[in-house]
Formats: sequence, C-alpha cells, structure tokens
Amino acid sequence: MRFERSHTRRAVALGVAGSLVLLASACGGDDGSSGGSSGGAGALEGRGPITFATGKDTSGFLPKQVAAWNSQHPTEKVEIKELPEDADAQRQQMVQNAQNKSDAFSVLNMDVVWTSEFAANQWITQIPEDKVPDLGKLIPATVETAKYRDKLYAVPITSDGGLLYYRSDLLTKAGVEAPKTWDEMLAACLKVQALPEAKGMSCYAGQFEKYEGLTVNFSEAINSAGGVIVDKDGKPNVDTPEALAGLQELTKGFSTGAIPKAAVTYKEEESRRAFQEGKLLFLRNWPYVYALAGKTDGSSKIAGKFGVAPLPGKTGPGVSSLGGHDYAISQFAKNKATAVDFINFMASEERQKANIQGTSQAPTYASLYDDPELTKAFPYLAPLKASILGAQPRPRVVKYGDVTAAIQTAAYDALKNGKDPKQALSELQTKLSTLITQ
Ligand code: GLC
Repeated sequence: MRFERSHTRRAVALGVAGSLVLLASACGGDDGSSGGSSGGAGALEGRGPITFATGKDTSGFLPKQVAAWNSQHPTEKVEIKELPEDADAQRQQMVQNAQNKSDAFSVLNMDVVWTSEFAANQWITQIPEDKVPDLGKLIPATVETAKYRDKLYAVPITSDGGLLYYRSDLLTKAGVEAPKTWDEMLAACLKVQALPEAKGMSCYAGQFEKYEGLTVNFSEAINSAGGVIVDKDGKPNVDTPEALAGLQELTKGFSTGAIPKAAVTYKEEESRRAFQEGKLLFLRNWPYVYALAGKTDGSSKIAGKFGVAPLPGKTGPGVSSLGGHDYAISQFAKNKATAVDFINFMASEERQKANIQGTSQAPTYASLYDDPELTKAFPYLAPLKASILGAQPRPRVVKYGDVTAAIQTAAYDALKNGKDPKQALSELQTKLSTLITQ
C-alpha cells in the first residue's frame, strides 16, 4: 500500500506523461528483481496438451503416474520429454530451451538448486500460493527450495537426503554395527574385509565424477566436519580448518584405497551398480537406490543383504545436502492452467504415496513419513526423515551454475588431480567471493 501511495504522489508531481511511465513500470516488472506481485503470476491460462521435461526416469514408474493424469484429462494430456541422467546435462538443456524462448517444455522437473537462477532470469513462472492448496502440508525446508525472494516459483514433489547403505549381512558376520562416524566406518571396513566373503571389496564410495553430485558429496564432507561452504549470511567461508578436515577425509579415502579409484567416475547410477554388484561395503546415495537394490528379479546381487543408516560424520552423525525436485512452469509454455493442475496432481498426497511405493523416492508430503503402511514397507523412512530435516541447502544464488562449477573444479582437482586440499579450498574461497556478492 505504501508503495502505491508514494507512486500516486510522485505521479501527480510529474504530471500525466510521467504517471503513465510509472504505471507501466509498476505493472510490467521487467527485470525479475522488482519482486513485484504480478510478474508472471496470474498468467496461468490456457488448457490443452502439455509436455513434461524430466531427467532420465531410472525407476520406470513415471509413465504410470502420467498415465493416471492422462486418463482423467483426455484433452489435456501430458507428454514426457526425457532428458539425460545427470543433473548438469538436464540443466543445460532447460537453460538452452529457455534462452531460445521455446515452448517445447511446459512443466520442468527442476533440481532444487536451480530455482533462484531460473526465477531471476524469468525462465519460470511465478505461481500464486493460493493456486497450490497443499503447501502447508509439505516439509517446510522443501517449500523454501521452491521460492525466490519469498515468492513461489515451483512446487516440491520429491525431496532427497543422503543415506549410508551398508552390507548388513557382512557387518553382522563381522560382529560390527552400522557406523556413526568416518573412523568407525573405516574400522568396520577393516574387520569386514578380513572375512573371506569380503575379499577384494572396497570400503566406501559416493559420487565423485565432476558434476552436481560431486558438489553434493564435497558439501556433505565439509558440513559433516563442522565446516560450511557459505555461512548463515550467505557469504563464502570455505577456507577454514573444518572444511579442510572434511575434504581431507575424502582425499585420504582415495589415497588409502578406502574409496576405490573408479569412484571418480561414479555418478548416482554407477555407484549404485557397484554396490549392487557387491563391490562396496558402504555406499552414500539417495533413497531411490532402496527399491532398485532390493529387487529380487536378479538385477541386484544384494537384495535382502543391505541396511540403511544416517550418513556418518567426523565426530557423530553427518550432515546431508538437501536434494530433491520441484516442478515449475516454463515462462514460454502454452496451456499454463493445465500445467499448474498437473503439478498439483503430482504433488497430492495420493500421487506422492504412489510415487514412494513405486520408486522409494522421498516424498515432500510430511505426513507420509509417519504413514504406518509406508513405515512398514520402507524402514529407511526414519533415517531419511532425519537426513532431510537436518540437511544443509546448497548455496541459493542466481549464479548457481557458476558456483557449482567452481566447487566441482576445486573438489575434482583435490580428489583426482592431486592438488593440495588447502590450496584448492583457498582458491575456491577466492572464486566464490567473486561469484557471490550479495
Ligand atoms: C539428486 C538430488 C539433487 C542433486 C542430484 C545430484 O537428483 O535430488 O538435488 O542435485 O542428485 O546428482
């Protein structure tokens, strides 16, 4: 209100011509930084067929969810546009599409870390909160990932928290419990590796290929040693003894062979396969692995032989990076009214429950973590809830693409190319300070 009144006063002072200019700029909001209440919101119009751009569906379950929508909406069908498996490649295609102002993608399945960049560039549409009925029922941290400058630009559909998968059969045989710290994990490995059944197995892997997953694993190592990449005020602060201790845990893992050399080529799927093939005692990965590693159709050698625990840390439980996916509407899409309805359909409790049952992915719907049917079928729900509630978001910045590239370079240089970890962190601090200035 104050904004409007001062506008009126200024308009009167400037005369009619001036007032027209001011009114136009108040309505238009052309720079995305105005935080204006309209922006792209309110323009959720048009009904008809839409497309849904999403990373590779490793579960094979997505077509069932979409078919459930399509059967109820024969004139507003959704067509899946499957993008690559790795997050950076997905982002690249979505960015390119947006830069071309193409309407080829209507709904975007966005990694939680992309919201600021896509919203600031006006590549996605602001969604008025009253168009999304269940927001209050979602885990609050997941809703934050879908906001930019306090406005909603997407709806959280799946969350993600890192988990420690371990070979329960071998740990039991060696008489060791699931570890809570890195030292306990390494000690457990030594005991288990002494068993004839564990001959040739490696201790641990995560995702260390140079892509978004490396940012996740690097952040988790640093956060789990008490360090940060950016502090509470959003300022880079990665050149610290705590961050160094975290990074050194990883470099030490590689130099001692606790982490196999091949892990620098692992993304989520490569590391899952290594674990399923019986090459690893411990694996850091997301909840989607639970369903696939437990398959009894012969695709997994370890069905019934693994357990799930919270990530380990330096002196106690570790800290996960907050992962997950939010659905957004491309600014350039047609049929935005259909798009928002489809998003609400996928965000509903019923669809989220179907999704965890079909994929073991983490819901954003809070009550599902206490649903008796689900807690019975998915014993990992308790550590997963703890992982998500204690998770650290990655930096929420408009230049996220540059920030994650800088983190990946520093981490990869230290892990793969032998760069001194202290030097890598000091260079990263300098680089991040130029990228994150707000
Ligand atoms: C998962 C997470 C996502 C993360 C990505 C990294 O898809 O949900 O947030 O960025 O893995 O590979």
